[in-house]
Amino acid sequence: MQVQTHSLLGTKLFLSRVLRNPRQLGAVAPSSRHLGALLARHAAVDNHSPIVELGGGSGSLTRALIKAGIEPRRIYVIELDKALAVYLKSAFPQVNVIHGNATELGKILPPHIIGKVHRIVSGLPMINMPECVRREILESCFEIMSPNGAYLQYTYSPRSSIKAETYGLSKERMGTIFLNIPPATVWQYKKA
Ligand SMILES: C[S@@+](CC[C@H](N)C(=O)[O-])C[C@H]1O[C@@H](n2cnc3c(N)ncnc32)[C@H](O)[C@@H]1O
Repeated sequence: MQVQTHSLLGTKLFLSRVLRNPRQLGAVAPSSRHLGALLARHAAVDNHSPIVELGGGSGSLTRALIKAGIEPRRIYVIELDKALAVYLKSAFPQVNVIHGNATELGKILPPHIIGKVHRIVSGLPMINMPECVRREILESCFEIMSPNGAYLQYTYSPRSSIKAETYGLSKERMGTIFLNIPPATVWQYKKA
């Protein structure tokens, strides 16, 4: 019951932030549980490594990661919007929620997890960002990941929102979820 109340509050807050800043929020609704489940399945590669989630929003992906059995203390959520970050901290007290920018992961994440992150799950609206910001985010991600780490990103277009070759990455389509508004495709990127 408490979870449901929190999730409704989160959705309401998310929609009010979309009205204020549609480009940064980049979505008309939080991700569905089906999209969350697909991302969580590919993020849960072992039972101990830290997992970083970029752009926590109203917490729909965070909820899916926890539902998939990932311990909350292994999850680090980065959210740029102050009001959403405050909400996420109260909704997920055991998760490490950081109010900050995905371009600065090396500075804002605790030093003991740098180089140990196997998976980054991103809900960032990459398509709305200038090329230089996209590059900064990807560089920041691959700097803090383990050598075999992977970056998971969903997009509302069936095509990848990241030109993998431009960044020396390989890409793989992990699936498309039609039960999402709008339908979304999940891509996984690794160092080529
Ligand atoms: C499309 S929403 C995703 C929300 C949620 N993960 C979901 O799937 O429902 C994108 C989120 O990314 C956040 N965001 C945008 N740019 C960011 C950045 N540079 N660093 C961290 N968060 C960012 C926005 O504030 C927003 O909450």
